[in-house]
Amino acid sequence: MDKNFPLKGFGSAAVHSGDKKDPNDAHLVPIYASSTYVFDSAEQGMRRFSGQEEGYIYSRWGNPTINEAEAKIAALETFGLPLTVKGILHASGMAAITTLILGTLQSGDNILTHYSLYGGSEELMNKILPALGIEAIIADLRNPDYAETVLKNEPGIRMVYLETPANPTIQCVDIQAISELAKKYHKIVACDNTFATPYLQQPFRYDVDFVVHSTTKFLNGHGTAIGGILLGKDIDRMKGPITKTHRLLGGNANPFDAFLLTQGIKTLEIRMDRHCSNALEVARFLEKQDAVKKVNYTGLASHPDHAVAGKQMRHPGAMLSFELKKGMQGGIDFMNKLKMCIRTVSLGTVDTLLCHPASMTHYSVPREAKEQYGITDGLIRMNVGIENIDDILADLEQAL
Ligand SMILES: Cc1ncc(COP(=O)(O)O)c(C=O)c1O
Repeated sequence: MDKNFPLKGFGSAAVHSGDKKDPNDAHLVPIYASSTYVFDSAEQGMRRFSGQEEGYIYSRWGNPTINEAEAKIAALETFGLPLTVKGILHASGMAAITTLILGTLQSGDNILTHYSLYGGSEELMNKILPALGIEAIIADLRNPDYAETVLKNEPGIRMVYLETPANPTIQCVDIQAISELAKKYHKIVACDNTFATPYLQQPFRYDVDFVVHSTTKFLNGHGTAIGGILLGKDIDRMKGPITKTHRLLGGNANPFDAFLLTQGIKTLEIRMDRHCSNALEVARFLEKQDAVKKVNYTGLASHPDHAVAGKQMRHPGAMLSFELKKGMQGGIDFMNKLKMCIRTVSLGTVDTLLCHPASMTHYSVPREAKEQYGITDGLIRMNVGIENIDDILADLEQAL
């Protein structure tokens, strides 16, 4: 497409951004399954290594299929904003988060983060980083006054790390409020935007420095590949120390997964619209069910983070959870009766996925820890899919 044609809609950018004319006129950027690239001469090799000439050298460092996915996500995270960011695709969301932390922090630095985080990110901060001298300080970042007290009293904090909406509790943190505070105290701000996607929420609007995603989820959309991306607005830093860290840690993406990701992203807008309208209907349906004690969905006025989600998200998202009155056995019976919806632990796919944390992901977590995170025995987490709503409701109704 002509790069000078200004695209007005996010959906058009999701389809067209990031593509480059293929030398063989292929419609789609092909899967470049090549580990290395050929130089015309020793001089050209020298120019590429010294950065005088653009071009590929080795696929851990860059690859055309991977670059298309990076450019597409960078365009979507800044769509409509007067900003350019650089994205680096990784083998997984965890690899992207690792590059972010090891590329920016040193021994003696602390990370301030919210207590509800994806389990892998929390374990990285609690089990791996302390040995490197990097400690996490956990606070309830939904309370900006408290966050400011911590920022004032803990001079070792170098990064504020947000995840909103958070996995698995769907809690939301006010990105603008926390980012403004963090900037007042000269901290780096990073935000995990996996649950929202750039269609629902653009953290770069609020002056954050870095955005990360597990692209495994809604960006890919079909559950076909694990992946992650780290995006940053300081281009020199991204091309310098962050690229160095990414290349040396070796958590690079592969061209096949990048191809699948790129095709998935093209339908992001229409998928998310349908995910979200279905999720709202499911939440309203569940609220009326006798077997259900409580529904947690940021689209419902009853959710404590309803206003924050409404302020920073286009729609409240596809994820919700609900609590069954009959506890553990109620959760097990309900899960066993599902006929169309899928029993699994991931999220972000076109089909409706349900998970019962007490008997699955959090089975071995001590009761007090589960209670702290709001994970009760009867809690069900749901990724509402894009099937026809009548079928989703009919399956839930018969299982309840
Ligand atoms: C919010 C969030 N961030 C990061 C990750 C890690 O991503 P990956 O599994 O692609 O490494 C996940 C995985 O579930 C997640 O939900």
